[in-house]
Amino acid sequence: MPATHPRRILVTSALPYANGHIHLGHLVEYIQTDIFVRFQKLRGQRAIYLCADDTHGTAIMIRAKAEGRSEQELIAAMREAHLADFADFQIAFDHYGSTDSPANRRLCGEIWQSLRRRGLVTSRDVTQLFDPVAGVFLADRFVRGRCPRCDAADQYGDSCEQCGATYSPADLVDPRSTLSGAKPEERSAEHLFVTLEAMHGFLDEWTRASGALDPRVANYLIGHFLGEPLRDWDISRPAPYFGFEIPDAPGHYWYVWFDAPIGYLAATSEWCAAHGESFDAWWRRGGTNEPPAEIHHFIGKDITYFHTLFWPAMLEAAELSLPTRVRIHGFLTVNGQKMSKSRGTFLLARTYLDHLDPGMLRYYYAAKLSGGIDDIDLNLPEFAAKVNADLVGKVVNLASRTARWLEKTGLSARYPDDGGLFAHAAADGTEIAAAYEACDFARAMRAIMLAADRANLYVDTEQPWKLAKAGPEAAAKLQDVATVAINLFRQLAVYLAPVLPKFATQVGELVGGPIGSWEQSQQPLTAAPVGTFIPLMRRVEAAQLEALLSQSSEQSRETSPGVPAVESQPSAQPSPATDRPGDSGDALAAEPLAPTCTIDDFAKVDLRVARIIMAEEVPEAKKLLKLTISLGGDVTRTVFAGIKGFHAPEALVGRLVVVVANLAPRQMKFGLSEGMVVAASGAGAQGVYLLSPDSGALPGMRLH
Ligand code: MSP
Ligand code: ZN
Repeated sequence: MPATHPRRILVTSALPYANGHIHLGHLVEYIQTDIFVRFQKLRGQRAIYLCADDTHGTAIMIRAKAEGRSEQELIAAMREAHLADFADFQIAFDHYGSTDSPANRRLCGEIWQSLRRRGLVTSRDVTQLFDPVAGVFLADRFVRGRCPRCDAADQYGDSCEQCGATYSPADLVDPRSTLSGAKPEERSAEHLFVTLEAMHGFLDEWTRASGALDPRVANYLIGHFLGEPLRDWDISRPAPYFGFEIPDAPGHYWYVWFDAPIGYLAATSEWCAAHGESFDAWWRRGGTNEPPAEIHHFIGKDITYFHTLFWPAMLEAAELSLPTRVRIHGFLTVNGQKMSKSRGTFLLARTYLDHLDPGMLRYYYAAKLSGGIDDIDLNLPEFAAKVNADLVGKVVNLASRTARWLEKTGLSARYPDDGGLFAHAAADGTEIAAAYEACDFARAMRAIMLAADRANLYVDTEQPWKLAKAGPEAAAKLQDVATVAINLFRQLAVYLAPVLPKFATQVGELVGGPIGSWEQSQQPLTAAPVGTFIPLMRRVEAAQLEALLSQSSEQSRETSPGVPAVESQPSAQPSPATDRPGDSGDALAAEPLAPTCTIDDFAKVDLRVARIIMAEEVPEAKKLLKLTISLGGDVTRTVFAGIKGFHAPEALVGRLVVVVANLAPRQMKFGLSEGMVVAASGAGAQGVYLLSPDSGALPGMRLH
C-alpha cells in the first residue's frame, strides 16, 4: 500500500455510440473498467472513471431522420437509457459526459489549432457516393449492392459477407442507398486531412518504447502500419453532417472519430470543474509539481488504431500527456458464436436485467478476463454452473450456514484459533492485488475461490450444526466456529468488492460496517454484532436462461427490418450470413467422403491448436497470407495460407486456429511453409472458413 502519495489514475472506457442500446458485448468493457477502478479506489489510490456518449456522425443523423425527431432528442433519450443500464450494472462513473457538449467543442478547437500550427493539416478532393434523394454522402454501410467478386446480392459497400471480399462502394454492382433506395452518384468534395506521416518517428518510438501497449499489439502496429509511410487521415466531412462545424473551414465538420476521443478530455474538464480540480494536473505535461497522472484507456480490439495511432498523434501535437496504458480486450461471443438477433443471442443489457442478477454477470466476466485480447465466450449453461458453484455454493453458502448462530451473541470477543486460515487468505492478498492490477481478473477470482474452498472445508470439519444441538456446553465453541466462518466470509467480500460492489455493501450491513479499504482483508473482526442473514444470491435456474433468450428473440423480431443498420461497428452487426436454419447437402454432395482410414492413419496427422501472432499480405501472391503462428512457449512456425481476401490480416492476429503441425515443410516461391492451417471450404459458399477451438483451449494442445 502506498505510504506516501496515492497514485492518480485517470481511467476511461470507449464512448458508446448514442445510436444503440448497451448490450452484453459492451459490458465486457464497462464491467472490466469498473472493476479496475473500484480496485484502485479500494487500495487507496486516487482513481477517476470517465466516459461519455459518442453522439456524432452519419448513423445518428440518419436514425434521427428515420424516427422523425431531432438528433438532440435522440441522443438525450439514448443517454438516459445508457445511464440507467450502467447504473443497474453497478458501473460507477465519476463523470459521464457527451461528445455533443460545449467543453468538447472548445477542446476540439484547441487540438485543431495545435494541428494547424504544426502544419499538419492539408486538404484535397475526395470522391464519395452521394444519395441524391436523401441529400447526404453515404458511409460505406449505407450502400448495398451485388458483390463485385462473387455476385452475391445485397452486400455492404465495404465488404461481402458471402465471400469476404473487401472493396470500395464504387465497385459494387447495381449499388443502392439503403436510405432511399436511390442509385447513388459519385460526387467529389473537399476533405481535410491530418498528415500523420509527419508524426511517424514519434509514433514508432511511442509504440516500441512507451510500455503503453501489449507487445503483441505493438508488433501488429509495426507490421501493419509503421513499416510503411502513414496515410493521411481524412478528418472532415462535408455538410450535411451531425457534428461540430470546423471554425476555420465553414461547411466542413470534424469526422466523428476526431471529436470522440477528445470526449475523454472534455469529460475530464467537466469533472474537474465540478470538483475544483485542475485539468492541467491530469493532462498537461508537467502540469503540476505532483508526479504525472496515469492515463489508462480500456478499449475493444476493433478500435485499436484509433487509440494507438491517431489519438497519441493528436495528444503529442497538443503537448498533452500520452496514455500510460491502452488496455485492449477481445469480443464477446454467446454460446460460441457472434451475437445474433435471429438466434436470440443479441442480448441487451436491459433484457438481461429483467431476468438475472447483474452481479452474476460481473463475476462471470471477471472469471473469464485475463487481460489479453482473446475473445471471451458467454456460454449460458457454463454461466449458470459457474455462478451456482462459486458465488452461491462457495461464497454465500459460507454465511448462510453460519451467520444465524451469531445473531444473538455477535462475534467472539477474541479471534479464535482457526489453524491459520485467516492469515493464509490475508497473505494471498498480495497475489490477488497483483492480479487485479494486471487486469488478470481470472487469476484473482481463482485465488479467491481457493480461499473460499478452504473456508468451507473448515465449516464442514467443525460441523457447527452439531455443536448447536449439543446444548449450552458447546455454545462457546459454536460461537468461535461461526466467528471464524463469518470473518473468512467478510474477508472474501473485501477481495470481491471490486467485482461485486452491492454484495460487499450487503456483507458490510450484516457484519462489521461498510467495506471501503483493502486493508480490511488483513485483520479479523471481534466482538461485533451480526445482523440477520438474508440470502444474498439465489441459484440461476435453467428457466431463467430460457426466459432471457426467448424475450431476446421476441425483441429481435419486433425491430423492423426496414430500419437501416445503426450499429456502426461491423463487428457488432448481427450477420445474416451466419444464420442458416436448414443446412443444405450441397457441400457434401460436391465433395463426397474420402475412403475409410484407420485410427492409426489418423494418428499420423498431428493436429495442434496454434495462435496467429503475425499475419502479413504476400503482395506477389493472389491468395496467400503469410502467417506466423505460435505453438506455445517460443515455438513458432511460418505458414503460407490460401485465405487472402477472405480474412483481413489484422483481424487474424491473436486468434486461435488448428494446424497440421507435422506436415513436411514445403519450399514455396515466397519462403518455406512449415505446416498448414486447417480451414473449411466447398460448395454452397465461396468462403474459406478457419476453425477455432472452444474458449479455454491453448496453443500446443493436440486434437484427438
Ligand atoms: N464510439 C466508439 C468508441 C469511441 S472512443 C473515443 C465505439 N462505440 S461502440 O458502442 O461501438 O463500442 C464501445 C466499446 O464497446 C468499444 O470499445 C467496443 O470495442 C466495445 N464493444 C462493442 N461490442 C463488443 C462486443 N461484442 N464485445 C466486446 N466489446 C465490444 O466503438
Ligand atoms: Zn462476394
